[in-house]
Amino acid sequence: MLHHPAILFVCLGNICRSPLAEGAFRQAAAQAGLDVEIDSAGTGAWHVGKAPDPRAIRTAKAHDVDISRLRARQIRTEDFRRFTHVFALDHDNLAAIQRLVPPDGLAEIGLLLDLVQGRAGEAVTDPYYGDEAGFETSWADVLAAADALVTRLKSR
Ligand code: 4NP
Repeated sequence: MLHHPAILFVCLGNICRSPLAEGAFRQAAAQAGLDVEIDSAGTGAWHVGKAPDPRAIRTAKAHDVDISRLRARQIRTEDFRRFTHVFALDHDNLAAIQRLVPPDGLAEIGLLLDLVQGRAGEAVTDPYYGDEAGFETSWADVLAAADALVTRLKSR
C-alpha cells in the first residue's frame, strides 16, 4: 500500500460533480495542512479538455473555491496504480470504475457518500439537467464528504 495518499474523484462527465468534489477537498485538505495528491476524472469522454460547467464554477466560487482552471479528462487504467483511493459520485460510475480495475490495481474504491455518517449508499445526484439549485445540493454533498475524508486521513 502506498503511504502518500492520492485521491481521485470520478463522475460521468468530469464537468459538474467531480470537479466540485476536487475543489471542496482541495480547500479542506489545504486548511488541514494535509499533504495529498488530488484529481478528478469522468468515466465518459464527451467533455474531455473542457472546463467545468459554468454553473459548477459559479457554485464553487460562491464558496470561495476556484475550479475554473480544471479540465475534464477520462479515467484510465493507470489511475488505479497511481491513486490510493478512487471515489465514485454515484452507483453507475462506481460500477463503471469496477469494470476498469486492472489486476495490479491497488486503489481502494468506494462510493463518495459512504464516507459521510448517515449517508452510506447514497449518490450525489447528477445536477447537469437540473437548475442551479441542484449544484448547491451537490456542493453540500461533496463538502460533507471532503470534511469526512480529511478527518479520516488525519487519523491515519
Ligand atoms: P457530471 O455531470 O457527471 O457531474 O460531470 C454530467 C455532465 C455531462 C453529462 C452528464 C453528466 N452529459 O451527459 O453530457
